[in-house]
Amino acid sequence: MKKAKVAVLGATGMVGQQYLKLLQNHPMFTVSTITGDKSVGKRYGDAVNWIVSENIPSEFADMEVQPTKPSRVDADLVFSPLPSEVAGSAEEEFAKSGFPVMSDASAHRMEPDVPLLIAEVNLGHLSVIEEQKRSRKWDGFIVTSPNCTTVGLALVLKPLADKFGLNHVIVNTMQALSGAGFPGVPALAIHDNVIPYIENEEEKVETEVSKILGSQNKKMIAPSELAISASCHRVATLDGHFESIYLTTEKDTVITSVTEALRTFSSIPQQMKLPTAPTQPIIVRDEVDRPQPRLDRYAGSVPGMSVVVGRIRHGLDSKSLKFGIMVHNTIRGAAGGTILIAEYIVEKGMV
Ligand SMILES: NC(=O)c1ccc[n+]([C@@H]2O[C@H](COP(=O)([O-])OP(=O)(O)OC[C@H]3O[C@@H](n4cnc5c(N)ncnc54)[C@H](OP(=O)(O)O)[C@@H]3O)[C@@H](O)[C@H]2O)c1
Repeated sequence: MKKAKVAVLGATGMVGQQYLKLLQNHPMFTVSTITGDKSVGKRYGDAVNWIVSENIPSEFADMEVQPTKPSRVDADLVFSPLPSEVAGSAEEEFAKSGFPVMSDASAHRMEPDVPLLIAEVNLGHLSVIEEQKRSRKWDGFIVTSPNCTTVGLALVLKPLADKFGLNHVIVNTMQALSGAGFPGVPALAIHDNVIPYIENEEEKVETEVSKILGSQNKKMIAPSELAISASCHRVATLDGHFESIYLTTEKDTVITSVTEALRTFSSIPQQMKLPTAPTQPIIVRDEVDRPQPRLDRYAGSVPGMSVVVGRIRHGLDSKSLKFGIMVHNTIRGAAGGTILIAEYIVEKGMV
């Protein structure tokens, strides 16, 4: 099978680096263009502050960083881990110019004709793309991935909503430094500290989960009624957001069947055996002290793509549950999750 040519916009950033790491030797994609802003015109190996693995993959080190403009991109599909304030207009330009755009930025996530996807949860929302193209007069389209914290939460809520029904969800997060991009939070602010505020993060988590679990017709996506309350904190871990969840269910629950529902959850990417699909999207640990970011961030058959859950127990009664989850924010929560959606889109002939 001929590989699709892909571009990575903002390739020097935290998420951009993770894209290049995951796209080296990818069976369906070959990276044809990388773009940036301050690094334009430079050799990638000289421009990037590479921190996601030991070495920059050799096939990318000598590539020249291009301006983030459709006319400078030669690709069948574009990955966009651009800062949100840039992504709004830049992604529209690319879609207008005929590119399918897979975005990690928040700029277009909440627009009703833009799918906000997790590959195992709501691929059906792709049905709005035809209307998006028609009403905006675009030859290309925009598909978005959620905020990194949202990804772990919504993925775990999906099997519980299907089996037990959900009333409300309360989540407290402990989020890794890489979630703030590079160079991120100043060392003197975060060392020996917890920062109990991440700008716009709580609003994103609350609204995005509702959209992902919502329903669609051919024209738009309508959010679910699920009530969600989030409190988000920055902590001094490198990668992997930990989330402490309390939720109430419509039906009574038994812990063994909750564990079973999470452990056995799989979906379309697993059935299609897509290259970036982990065999188990959700891993449940039985130990009392797991998951932990340091131990669990690369868990699963595709490292960093499984959400790890632990300490599942009842809350106040048998219609309430509490547990902890850990999601790798730049892999499942960004580049890896978006590559998985792109694999589906290409396999289905949408590109
Ligand atoms: N970090 C995470 O865990 C995470 C998870 C999910 C989603 N996201 C989202 O993904 C996006 C990228 O995040 P990040 O953490 O990778 O950010 P980052 O480390 O700050 O990287 C930003 C990238 O965008 C480029 N850029 C900046 N201004 C630009 C402009 N005006 N035109 C073109 N390119 C420009 C930079 O290129 P130069 O170096 O050339 O200036 C750099 O490559 C954000 O929207 C973020 O919200 C991040």
